[in-house]
Amino acid sequence: MSDAAVTIDALIARKGAGPRIAAMTAYDASLAAIAEAAGIDLLLVGDSLGMVVQGAPNTLAVTVDEIVYHVRCVARGATRPLLVADLPFGSYPDATVAFGNAASLVRAGAAMIKLEGAGHVTSIVEYLVAREVPVCAHLGLTPQSVHRFGGFRVQAREEAAAAKLRADAAALAAAGASLLVLECVPADLARAVSAAVPIPTIGIGAGPGCDGQILVGQDLLGITRGKRPRFVRDFLAGHGSVESAIAAYIAAVQDGSFPSAAESYA
Ligand code: KIV
Repeated sequence: MSDAAVTIDALIARKGAGPRIAAMTAYDASLAAIAEAAGIDLLLVGDSLGMVVQGAPNTLAVTVDEIVYHVRCVARGATRPLLVADLPFGSYPDATVAFGNAASLVRAGAAMIKLEGAGHVTSIVEYLVAREVPVCAHLGLTPQSVHRFGGFRVQAREEAAAAKLRADAAALAAAGASLLVLECVPADLARAVSAAVPIPTIGIGAGPGCDGQILVGQDLLGITRGKRPRFVRDFLAGHGSVESAIAAYIAAVQDGSFPSAAESYA
């Protein structure tokens, strides 16, 4: 493994060629440093911190200032993985507000920002990319839409919703997004979207057909309380250290053994 920082171009070049991209969330310097030593490609300071760090029932109360704080922490712990930060709920109502908040995250150390959805968000992606803010898009079970969805449910199982997701993915890639997270969608749909778009897809609950995988750090280390979603595997079980657990996760992503069919949705 090279010590050189992971670049966006390097991740894009791996689409189709491999190895698959292994990504996880981190919110603090210690876990970021261990994940870096294990060889992780991408660290996300996600708004999932609202749930796994702050104990909230969803991600909606997380603020830009809280993401900025955790980006600073993670940036001190790791310099090699690509550092991506979420724009939280309510922080991108229009392009200019989105740019101001994205700039705060970039100043804190993020190399890319992630935002959820399509529709009017597609033009915000275009605006940010034109102003030197690289963007990761996010479709499927977008947690900031939890109230509209009526809970955390698998998305796009019906053909109309699947067709819309395929069109949204193409539009976001055309708008300049560099990466696309697909969350909790049927494995066949994620595989089809991955084949259709020119940018890497990173799945979570989206089956093995994506160009990479992401898990919440607490989930992959088996320290999340409550009912565990189907797509979560505890990589610490059977491994003697956090670093070897993360290395096992990376190996399983790269060799395609994670996620299995039982860890995916039909
Ligand atoms: O906030 C987060 O952790 C995320 C991942 C689930 C992709 O958006």
